Amino acid sequence: MPETGRFLEGPFAPVTEEVTAYNLPVTGRLPAGLNGRYLRNGPNPLGLDDPNYHWFMGAGMVHGVRIRDGKAEWYRNRWVRSKALAEAHNETWPGGPVHENMDFGANTHVIANAGRTLATVEGGGLPYELSYELDTVGPCDFGGTLPGGFAAHTKLDHRAGELHAIAYFWAWDHVQHVVVNSAGKVTQATDVPAPDGPMMHDFALTATQVVLLDLPVTFSINAVTEGREFPYVWNPEHQPRVGLLPRDGSSGARWFEVDPCWVFHCLNAYDDDNGRVVVDVCRYNGSFDVSAMWAAHGPVTLDRWTIDPAAGQVSQQRVHDRWQEFPRVDDRIVSRPHRFGYSAVIGAVARAITGDGEFSDDAFANALLRHDLVAGTTETREFGRDATVGEAVFAPSSSDAAEDDGYVMAFVHNPERGASDLVILAAQDFTGDPVATVHLPARIPLGFHGNWIADR
Ligand SMILES: [Fe+2]
Repeated sequence: MPETGRFLEGPFAPVTEEVTAYNLPVTGRLPAGLNGRYLRNGPNPLGLDDPNYHWFMGAGMVHGVRIRDGKAEWYRNRWVRSKALAEAHNETWPGGPVHENMDFGANTHVIANAGRTLATVEGGGLPYELSYELDTVGPCDFGGTLPGGFAAHTKLDHRAGELHAIAYFWAWDHVQHVVVNSAGKVTQATDVPAPDGPMMHDFALTATQVVLLDLPVTFSINAVTEGREFPYVWNPEHQPRVGLLPRDGSSGARWFEVDPCWVFHCLNAYDDDNGRVVVDVCRYNGSFDVSAMWAAHGPVTLDRWTIDPAAGQVSQQRVHDRWQEFPRVDDRIVSRPHRFGYSAVIGAVARAITGDGEFSDDAFANALLRHDLVAGTTETREFGRDATVGEAVFAPSSSDAAEDDGYVMAFVHNPERGASDLVILAAQDFTGDPVATVHLPARIPLGFHGNWIADR
């Protein structure tokens, strides 16, 4: 097993303090219409002494920046208070529902639904509700309407007001498609048979279909007995396939075989005019052992799958061949045709999870990409040496602005200060000076996902 300490060092190193800071210094000018919070979740283990530490298993910590009326009002970072985390802080756990003994400080994403702020995780756990100021309210099972666990990744169809998720759990012989309405109640839960206990980290949504990724990373009881902290391994016996499940649950999934690969994340998907489904993914070619990491064989590229139900086939096209991850679109367009996509080049992540040699020169290891998928062009915004960048999130300039009319924001490490900045770019001036840079009082470890959550 490879050493795992690399996820406790350098840009991954956890922070030890919860910080509250007000009236943050800003370079540039925060757009007057940008009122809300940029929130981002990620693992932040309490200690550095776990020899089996896996990046996916650190206790969740949510970092947030509140922006209002052209001011950066506050920065906060807070651990998500699972029972264990609350006890470690000598606090009383707020209590609440727990699915199958899977209480965990949700560490993967943070979303808004029905006025709630929810930190989310997958694999059987429930979301944790947070207050506006990021304090833990407690576990959330959507008012008792969620039958099992939930998921880290969700897709909100803004027009329909439906929040979709795919829940998986090692003891199930199925995965579960869940729909949550804008009132925060589960309205639909459909079991989809799935052998071997696959890890389904992400999925995609079209106007009519859920796109399922059933790839060969599956639960392993041997990994548990070997003491691996994250028990999902590459399983060459598991046929890789993608599925189309009608969103309304009117029939079962149709499956289409694909070549062995791994996909953490989809950019977006849509129904085209010819009865096909188009889905863009960051694809790890060949095998990838999520439990061990550092075990990818091929490159990670942005690829387009076109699923043709009539022909029963999936065709594959390379969109962009640079290593990239954390693909995002303008969230208002999820499930409909997208023109633009944003992704992150993170040399530290590429090296740590795939041992990728492409990043021997650190000066070109930190970048954000803006893809124009209609023009077939990509703009690259490089950050400097040691200026580690995370996932970029799009915020529209107004609720009815056109796709790509808005801002792309991400936490970027500022090596001169030894702390992080929130960098806000104009999407349509991607390589120009940032619109604004908010200087945060602390370093933010590399983490996973977040959202711009506009005030309502
Ligand atoms: Fe993810």
